[in-house]
Amino acid sequence: MSPNQRTPSSKKTALVTGGSRGIGKAIVSRFKEEGWNVATCATRASSLTESPADLTVECDVANQKQVRAMIDQTVAKFGKIDALVNNAGFSGSNPLSPDSSDEMWHRIVDINLHGTYYFCKYGAPHIPNGTGHIVNIASVLALKGVPDQTAYCAAKHAVLGFSRAFSHEMAPRKITVNTLCPGWVDTDMGIGRIQAIGMTVDQVDKTVPLGRLIRPEEIADFVYFLCTSKAASMITGHPLTIDGGSLV
Ligand SMILES: NC(=O)c1ccc[n+]([C@@H]2O[C@H](COP(=O)([O-])OP(=O)(O)OC[C@H]3O[C@@H](n4cnc5c(N)ncnc54)[C@H](OP(=O)(O)O)[C@@H]3O)[C@@H](O)[C@H]2O)c1
Repeated sequence: MSPNQRTPSSKKTALVTGGSRGIGKAIVSRFKEEGWNVATCATRASSLTESPADLTVECDVANQKQVRAMIDQTVAKFGKIDALVNNAGFSGSNPLSPDSSDEMWHRIVDINLHGTYYFCKYGAPHIPNGTGHIVNIASVLALKGVPDQTAYCAAKHAVLGFSRAFSHEMAPRKITVNTLCPGWVDTDMGIGRIQAIGMTVDQVDKTVPLGRLIRPEEIADFVYFLCTSKAASMITGHPLTIDGGSLV
């Protein structure tokens, strides 16, 4: 059922994927602080028991059936999705050789790219015309490459390409579609990657012109700005970099 066939709830609703920790958890909290209904998911329901979200769903974003079920549950409970934030992501090394396993490649592409695609495909019909927003969380690795991470770089570049194209499809409905491209963020994933490349947080801080990792709450503020500010109402289709100056 489309939102235009329902009586819209006076309260706004955000659907944020991957809300059990890190950036997603901060985004869930930001929308809750502002009085929104919030639905979120993770692969394990047990990781969401403490979440302030109004609806928590065990959903693997790479599983099309589970994505459809989560959207159905969200729309059944709240009637619409005013802000769709595709945040769930997974990173890892996949150095290429003729003998390397393809498993990591497929898992990284499935979660980062196909998860975003499924939620946009099935979520967009429930986003109200004129007031809705989609924010896809990519990475600075949507804009540059690093060794050992061909899958993650390919998936995040593809999220950006998808979002650019999809912004044109959503524009006649006055729905914005933007891609956030964070640099190093202080989360399990960020710290895990820093350790995986044999660096310390202090060393990484020195590579960032503004001198530190990004806090998850800073990404959450940026997402909230894109979904609510008048100043953001004409921003669509863009990669928006929040990286402390690393890419400059
Ligand atoms: N941290 C960084 O430095 C950084 C930089 C640039 C971009 N990003 C991007 O920012 C987003 C959030 O990253 P983060 O640092 O907050 O990562 P994180 O700390 O690893 O958290 C990832 C979240 O996504 C969920 N998730 C993972 N796979 C999922 C799946 N298949 N289905 C549903 N949920 C899933 C996780 O929950 P479960 O594991 O419980 O399922 C968790 O809630 C990702 O898209 C990431 O690529 C991160």
